[in-house]
Amino acid sequence: MAALDIRPLTRWTGAEIVGPDLSEPVDDNLAESLRRALGDWQVIFFPDQHLDIAAQKRLTRVFGPLTRSPYVVPMADDPDVIAVLKEADEVNVGVFGGDWHSDFSFLKDPPLGSVLNAVEVPPWGGDTLWANQVAALEALPDTLRQAIEGRNVIHIGKPYGVSHAPPEEERAGGSIRMVRNDPEADRETEHPAIRIDPVSGQFALNFNPTYAVRLSGMREDESAPLLDAVHRHTTRPEFCCRFRWRAGCVAVWNNYTTMHYAVNDYDGHRRMLYRTTFGK
Ligand code: SIN
Repeated sequence: MAALDIRPLTRWTGAEIVGPDLSEPVDDNLAESLRRALGDWQVIFFPDQHLDIAAQKRLTRVFGPLTRSPYVVPMADDPDVIAVLKEADEVNVGVFGGDWHSDFSFLKDPPLGSVLNAVEVPPWGGDTLWANQVAALEALPDTLRQAIEGRNVIHIGKPYGVSHAPPEEERAGGSIRMVRNDPEADRETEHPAIRIDPVSGQFALNFNPTYAVRLSGMREDESAPLLDAVHRHTTRPEFCCRFRWRAGCVAVWNNYTTMHYAVNDYDGHRRMLYRTTFGK
């Protein structure tokens, strides 16, 4: 394996990796080291890369085959890539990914991870947070563990569906287009409350407030106090890292072991990142 210069952001979550030039093809040794680093840190960051889309897709394939995301309209000339864009004149609107979520957890087979490549960033704000759900599980109080262990959670594509659609003012602005009011997104998918990452074999909590609505066999109002308690635990700052983007930075995260949150605090400035997704 290749030796990496790994600079942790926090005790458990997130590390910057300095050195590799990802605009060049990644050889097998480096690929193995990068996958290992992702398994160790759940989200890894590469400063000063300035990747074009071809290099971003090549990097994505180091972690798994490229997958396409439903409901979010991709770039017209490349269906593998989503432009995560908020224009300077989109003010007082929601932002794509602006609450804790793990990507498309309501699908039967959610993507294993994503790559985000910063092209243009605001002079301040626009950070992204990740919360490590392996660390959150390890520190879960016994009472909560007993309440969820062996149970399933119902996930629904709330923002895209009909019955749970968010109010207009909370929706993402116009530059990123999403399919709305699709009854298919109201379909309930059952997933284990504690899921296993098929790549690293690590166990992680599988709740997120964007898509997880209740425990299987319980009504939403019955589940709500438990889900609230789990949510307060899973997003404790000790399990999180917060990344300040610079143009040219690339992030790769494990979608099975983390949640993430795009902070919407840069009205009046443009922010543009390319996103690709990988699966098994
Ligand atoms: C996302 O949820 O994938 C977007 C994250 C971000 O824009 O920071």
